[in-house]
Amino acid sequence: MHKIGIINHKGGVGKSTLTGNLGAFLNKSKKKVILIDMDPQASLTMSLGFKPDNIDKNIAEMMTNIIENKPFDIRDYILRNEEDILLIPSGQELTKIELLLHQEIGREYILKKALKQLNDFSFDFILVDPPPFISLITVNILSYVEQALIPISPDFLSYKAFDILSDSLNNIRNKTNSQLEIIGIVFNFADLRTFHAKDVMDITKKTLGDDIYIFKSIIRAHTGIKEAQIKGQSILTYDPKSIGSKDYENFVNEFLEVVNSGKE
Ligand SMILES: Nc1ncnc2c1ncn2[C@@H]1O[C@H](COP(=O)(O)OP(=O)(O)OP(=O)(O)O)[C@@H](O)[C@H]1O
Ligand SMILES: [Mg+2]
Repeated sequence: MHKIGIINHKGGVGKSTLTGNLGAFLNKSKKKVILIDMDPQASLTMSLGFKPDNIDKNIAEMMTNIIENKPFDIRDYILRNEEDILLIPSGQELTKIELLLHQEIGREYILKKALKQLNDFSFDFILVDPPPFISLITVNILSYVEQALIPISPDFLSYKAFDILSDSLNNIRNKTNSQLEIIGIVFNFADLRTFHAKDVMDITKKTLGDDIYIFKSIIRAHTGIKEAQIKGQSILTYDPKSIGSKDYENFVNEFLEVVNSGKE
């Protein structure tokens, strides 16, 4: 079982888009996958065709159960969309959890406790989509996952953002999750006409370390990817022959090779 966080503290680099589409393509490859939306803005939940306001049983309620010591069955929180993608949805109540967490003992591990029941269902992949800000919610995610996949958008590149990300990963390794490993970096929104691949890779390696894997497959900017989300679909269902689908297909093949070559 791979517990993976799609991590980058910078907003708008494509974390939720990557989580949803990676989930769809892994599903197609017959992998057993579940997605966890941890952003109060619930973009992932919406991009899978759900309306967060109509859902009570979300990740925030589940974490409240842990905080209040109430028993629950995790199956009541799992939604299945029209494409057969499994999701634990989010909602804006998650902002209240952030406040509650501050006064909790063991506050870094509330998500880990909440998701413990997933261990009984033999998932191949658990993918967690974080919010775009550093918070106790992000610390909970980084203390739960075993691996991080980092989407980067070359247009949004900045040394500062890399420094912050690198500090935060090191901090987590030192304090709550020494096993956390980085699967690699995937470039999203890459425009091949203006994309100075070598410069970007050099900056990346310099800041995050030489041994970090950089995916050869890149995901180009493609409007179909956005249109699909508006319809509540993955690019695979919305337009299977599009550039977006091809890029994701290549990326997911490489992703499977990389994760399977590492330890299970
Ligand atoms: N390869 C792509 N081509 C075109 N549009 C994309 C692509 N990837 C993401 N987008 C669009 O860019 C916007 C930001 O993407 P997304 O919401 O996935 O980023 P995020 O990192 O999750 O943002 P946040 O930090 O706010 O959670 C969305 O409107 C999405 O549809
Ligand atoms: Mg997002």
